[in-house]
Amino acid sequence: MKPTIWVEKYRPKSIAEVIFQDERQRKQFEAYVAACDIPNLFLSGVQGTGKTTISKALIRDLGVDRADVLRINCSDEKIDALRSKVSGFAMTMPMGKFKVVQLEEIDYLSLDGQALLRSLIEDSSSSCRFIATCNYENKVIPPLKSRFQQFFFRAPDKEKIAERMVEILESEKVDFDAGYLLTYIDVGYPDIRKTIQLLQGNIGSGKLLNPSQVSNSTADWKFGLLDSISSGDFKKARKLVCESATREEHEDVFRFLYDNIDKLKVKDKDAAILVIADFLYKHTIVADTEINVAACFISLGKS
Ligand SMILES: Nc1ncnc2c1ncn2[C@@H]1O[C@H](COP(=O)(O)OP(=O)(O)O)[C@@H](O)[C@H]1O
Ligand SMILES: [Mg+2]
Repeated sequence: MKPTIWVEKYRPKSIAEVIFQDERQRKQFEAYVAACDIPNLFLSGVQGTGKTTISKALIRDLGVDRADVLRINCSDEKIDALRSKVSGFAMTMPMGKFKVVQLEEIDYLSLDGQALLRSLIEDSSSSCRFIATCNYENKVIPPLKSRFQQFFFRAPDKEKIAERMVEILESEKVDFDAGYLLTYIDVGYPDIRKTIQLLQGNIGSGKLLNPSQVSNSTADWKFGLLDSISSGDFKKARKLVCESATREEHEDVFRFLYDNIDKLKVKDKDAAILVIADFLYKHTIVADTEINVAACFISLGKS
């Protein structure tokens, strides 16, 4: 059966299909494939930008046998299980040149787990390559990171995302208005996974729905936020964020405002950036992040 989840259906199978923000990264990965070998790799950065995709694509492009791949999700692994899984896997001979251990969400590993992993990597370096992915590289201890070649993933260009989304919509035979599509991209940005999910979730009778009509029903406050900041209604924006965004999402609000600075209806964009930066800084030290976000909108309204 064909997969119906677009995120999986359109996951790039090889490095050649991946969207890169930095083409030098593509060249580097292609060079590994050409050399038929990889160092231990550490892929970190924004979620939904292709880290897991690249680790899978590399394994495929390198032609690594299925039996030579061990995938571990570090967020649900106990330390003893980690030890026995990795050392058991590394003990037997690889079918091919080397084995690959995929370490997903390595930033969730406890400090003890990280220390253990460091020694496991050392012990199995002759037969195993490790590919680690995570969102927050600063949660990983330097002595562990230094065992890897690091790659940092930034948000890709909106134009490149737009091209890919057009390909997806066309191959799904969905009619769409280009302006609507750009709004979905703005809302999902920089997370490509989320953008694809938003598109798939907002189709009615073969058409991409008008995002201003889905804003209330699909509970994605970013649609409403984009609407209100573009019209300069910062009071509405403030109410919306305070009512709908979770505490974990407050930090996203600043990045979202910054990413959409062109649309922000303010007299002085430079001053607005200073306001956003100032409140983002305060975000890390205040006790109540909601009040801080609210204050940011009030300041923007006056700038
Ligand atoms: N760089 C990219 N190029 C093409 N598609 C991407 C890219 N990044 C993410 N996607 C899409 O989003 C989905 C999730 O990407 P994934 O690699 O799992 O993200 P993460 O960086 O969080 O590991 C993929 O299945 C694919 O459909
Ligand atoms: Mg991932």
